[in-house]
Amino acid sequence: MKFFIDTADIKEIAALSETGLVDGVTTNPSLVAKAGGDFIATVKEICKLVKGPVSAEVTATDFETMLAEGNKLAAIASNVAVKVPLTPDGLRTCKALSDQGVMVNVTLCFSAAQAILAAKAGAAFISPFIGRLDDVGQNGLELIGEIVQIYGNYTDLKTEVLAASARHPIHVVECAKIGADIVTLPPNVLRMLYKHPLTDKGLEAFLADWQKTGQSIL
Ligand code: G3P
Repeated sequence: MKFFIDTADIKEIAALSETGLVDGVTTNPSLVAKAGGDFIATVKEICKLVKGPVSAEVTATDFETMLAEGNKLAAIASNVAVKVPLTPDGLRTCKALSDQGVMVNVTLCFSAAQAILAAKAGAAFISPFIGRLDDVGQNGLELIGEIVQIYGNYTDLKTEVLAASARHPIHVVECAKIGADIVTLPPNVLRMLYKHPLTDKGLEAFLADWQKTGQSIL
């Protein structure tokens, strides 16, 4: 399973890319607003830091303007994935950009039916939102399972399932069990994945015992 980082914070991306675990980045208008700074310059910077796909979202809602915005974003770097919302105009834009060879991430997916449409529109990625479904009393992970199953029925289908809106390590582990291609993680969720109290306790004991030997490896 690939890990994308869900943030527009360049410092966070630079720090986390040093882990060697980051395969891509996803941003959205809310994350860009939170990070501050110029959007285009930010995307350019992120694309230099991370070799994998970097999602940058259009903000228009009509086809013509979305397409123009998408082309502008795609011209920033070859690893930009243009993010479009799951609307009729968004999917029309997805099809047009995909036909030109541009990677498209279809976002705000909340149903299997929507995921089928995105795949038909040639999306490189479909982004179902787990946490936001959980928030309204639906099972976000069940949706990931449905989409993985449906896409698995069609071997020629290239759309990858990018599980978004992950809130905690259980979401990540369950997505891996289901077979999601990618999960996008807020930086704090990636950091949570390392944590186990027995790891900390065990390391503390090993180091204390090692000190008693009076030795040094280097
Ligand atoms: O980038 C899309 C998604 O990951 C947003 O997550 O936490 O705002 O529901 P969240």
